Amino acid sequence: MEKKNLDWQSLGFGYVQTDLRYVANYRNGAWDQGGLTSQADITMNECACVLQYAQTCFEGMKAYTTEDGKIVCFRPDLNAARMADSCRRLEMPVFPEDRFVEAVCETVRANAAWVPPYGSGATLYIRPYMFGIDPVIGVKPASEYQFRVFVTPVGPYFKGGIRPLTVRISDLDRAAPRGTGHVKAGLNYAMSLYNITDAHRQGYDENVYVDSATRTFIEETGGANIVFIKDGTLVTPHSDTILPSITRRSLLYVAKEYLGMNVEERPVALSEIGDFTECGLCGTAAVISPVGAIDDHGTVHTYAGMGPTIQKLYDTLTGIQLGRLPAPEGWIKVIE
Ligand code: PLP
Ligand code: COI
Repeated sequence: MEKKNLDWQSLGFGYVQTDLRYVANYRNGAWDQGGLTSQADITMNECACVLQYAQTCFEGMKAYTTEDGKIVCFRPDLNAARMADSCRRLEMPVFPEDRFVEAVCETVRANAAWVPPYGSGATLYIRPYMFGIDPVIGVKPASEYQFRVFVTPVGPYFKGGIRPLTVRISDLDRAAPRGTGHVKAGLNYAMSLYNITDAHRQGYDENVYVDSATRTFIEETGGANIVFIKDGTLVTPHSDTILPSITRRSLLYVAKEYLGMNVEERPVALSEIGDFTECGLCGTAAVISPVGAIDDHGTVHTYAGMGPTIQKLYDTLTGIQLGRLPAPEGWIKVIE
C-alpha cells in the first residue's frame, strides 16, 4: 500500500484531515450498526446538548508501524473501558467495548496510508469521542448521541520535540474532589484552556496541578500524568481525581517487570518534589516527555531532563510499541 506523501519527520501534534472516519448513532435507546464515512464535517441543531452543556467525552490512543511492518495499536481494550467509565459518569450510553475496539481497528485500517512508517518518529493518533447531539435546553442528558473515531498523523506533543520541559505549579485547579478529574470529559479540558494559554505566555510548557482540597499534593498536568525518579525507584501520584493514564499504568509494569525497579504509587507531597532526580510527563500524546524544571512560585526544582532512567523507560515502552521488544500478553493489537 502506497503511503501518503507527507514529511513525516516534521509533523507536530496537529490535525491533518485523513480519508475516512467511523460514525455510529444512538437513537431510540440503541446504537445503529455504524460505519465509515468520508464526511469530516458534522451538522447538528443549534441547541445540541454538546453545544449547550458540553456533554462529551473522548479517548486518545495511537497506531504504530512496527519494525516488521505491521500496523498495531497499544492496549485499545483499556481505552474502551475508560471511555465506558467516562460515559457512565456523564450519563451517556456506553458504546460497547468490543465494538469500540473494532471501530478503532476499522478506522485505522481504512487510513493505512496515513500510518507513519517505522523509523519516522511519527505515529497515527486515534481520537474516539462521543457527544449528545439532540436539542436540550433544560439541563438534562441528551437522548441521541454520536460516537466517532478519526485519525491524524502526529509528531511530538510538545513543540521542539524531545527536550527538557519547564513546567509550573498551577494556581488554578483542574479537578474537584468527587468531580470529573478521573474521566476524560471534554469539560476538563475546556476549563484548562485559559491556564495553558497563560502558562505558554509566561514561558512554561505545562501546568502541574495540585490537589484542590489541600493544595499540598501533586496531581498531574493538563494532558499527562507525572512520574518521578529517585534512587532507582519510580514514584507516581495516587489520586482519585487524576486521569488513570494507560501509559502510566504500563510504565509501572515496565519499570518493575522489565527494568527491575521499585515502584511506588502513592500521594506525592508538593514539599518532596525537590528530592527527586528525574521527572517525566507520561501519556499517549506525551509518551514520556522529560522535565528539566518545575517552578513552584519562584522556587525552581531542577531534574536531569532525559536522564538515564527516563531514557530507559522511554526506550522500553516505545520498544514494546514498535515491536522491538516482546510485549506482555494482550498489550499489542495487530490491525494489519
Ligand atoms: N492525564 C490527562 C489529563 C490526559 O489528558 C491524558 C491523555 O490521555 C493522560 C493523563 C494520559 O493518559 P493515557 O496514558 O491513557 O493517554
Ligand atoms: C492523549 O494523550 O491522548 C490526550 O488525550 C492528551 C491530550 C491533551 C492531547
